[in-house]
Amino acid sequence: MTEAASFPTVEELQAHDLFRTDAFVAGNWVEAKDGERFDVNDPATGNVIAAVASCTVDDVNHAISAANDAWGEWRDRTGKERAQVLRKWFDLMVANQRILAGLMSLEQGKSFAESSTEVAYGASFIEWFGEEAKRLDGSIIPGHRHDARILVLRQPVGVVAAITPWNFPIAMITRKAGPALAAGCPIVIKPASATPLCALALARLAEQAGVPPGILSVVPSRQTGTVGTALTTSPLVRKVSFTGSTEIGKVLLKQAAETVKKVSMELGGNAPVIVFDDADLDKAVAGTIAAKYRNSGQTCVCANRVLVQDGTYDRFVDALTEATRKLTVGPALTGAFDQGPLIDAKAVDKVEELIADATAMGASVSVGGERDALGATFFRPTVLCDVPKSARIAKEEIFGPVAPVFRFSDEQEAIDMANDTEFGLASYLFTQDLSRAIRVAEAIESGMVGVNSGIISTELAPFGGVKESGLGREGSSYGLEDYTELKYLCLSI
Ligand code: SIN
Repeated sequence: MTEAASFPTVEELQAHDLFRTDAFVAGNWVEAKDGERFDVNDPATGNVIAAVASCTVDDVNHAISAANDAWGEWRDRTGKERAQVLRKWFDLMVANQRILAGLMSLEQGKSFAESSTEVAYGASFIEWFGEEAKRLDGSIIPGHRHDARILVLRQPVGVVAAITPWNFPIAMITRKAGPALAAGCPIVIKPASATPLCALALARLAEQAGVPPGILSVVPSRQTGTVGTALTTSPLVRKVSFTGSTEIGKVLLKQAAETVKKVSMELGGNAPVIVFDDADLDKAVAGTIAAKYRNSGQTCVCANRVLVQDGTYDRFVDALTEATRKLTVGPALTGAFDQGPLIDAKAVDKVEELIADATAMGASVSVGGERDALGATFFRPTVLCDVPKSARIAKEEIFGPVAPVFRFSDEQEAIDMANDTEFGLASYLFTQDLSRAIRVAEAIESGMVGVNSGIISTELAPFGGVKESGLGREGSSYGLEDYTELKYLCLSI
């Protein structure tokens, strides 16, 4: 863990050049057109830390038309030229890791160590996609006539609108901006209203790296619905990329359908962790802790249901309870804690409701299960045992530090339980039997499977879900394809 002495203070962050409270539109730092601002709060204390410009629909339309105007020059650069700009942006992110991590801990609440890791993770998308900018290869297909040759080109899709969440205030932006810019697309980003400061700091670094005016705009706003609609309905926007809840994703999908936009949707999850009797117990516990308590349980790929086979159930629950008891909780910038606050009091209310529902149905709390005395947004890491399959917590995304543990007796029951959800983002399984690992991984309906691993996220792999967890993939060369269109040329020679 990082030494407390190196944590930036709130005053240091607020005085820094990366602490930006104006919107970044068409290459300028601006007030919203109506002058409105909204407060950003530290989730640990509730204190107001900034008043940020609240963009209007006019501001958003200005950003979109500037993006469309700037597009041609950016698209016409060689891949190598775009790669050089992205490389500079990556270098600047790395050089400013401490300040970016401080901003993230301040506005989002995650521990400083996790924030620092997210800055590196976020920067990795800029590095990876910058390198890939040189490899937007097409193909030549043998013709269907003697005189015909078929050329297939990859071209940038056009103006991209990105609507990003508060739980990963940097990585969920760079996972979209990296491939967009690499492919030759401009991007307009609407960050979550809880966490605009990281987005604006990224824009400042992009400006310093030489991203041309208009190619990247950041339009924070508290008018989330109307601004979102402006982005999803503008005929100039050709692609919408959203990370957030399935509920909002469905609304945006309908809106984007009007003008038949390309879409990427990274939506909710209900990840199962399956622990078989033959699992390495230490590995299974460490993997479950990692998959459950990352970002205090506030990720779409967090373990939502821990399914444990009868023969190892008691030993596993005891070990998970002990490991959970060791997790420390506190405000991120005051010490090297494992967990920070949840994003707001509503998130804590939901966690409490789900625990109350499960315990009313017979579940028991082996550790945690209550708010922490630190304040209204702090909740103790919790393990719930013997949770019935019919409890709400088996169906709903928890987004908090609660590990509900369920029992199963055989492989087929585990697969059926894992698939008994409308979601299909991530899943995890722990077994030392290779055949079983492959069989079960293939049978689970999810876009990603961690086998004996609780952490699966990397810029090198395609991230995304099936069923109601989304459409498209982010990261890896598949993630770049989602920002391009294929064009076929029929040549007669
Ligand atoms: C998410 O929770 O939406 C993203 C998590 C990740 O990239 O690991």
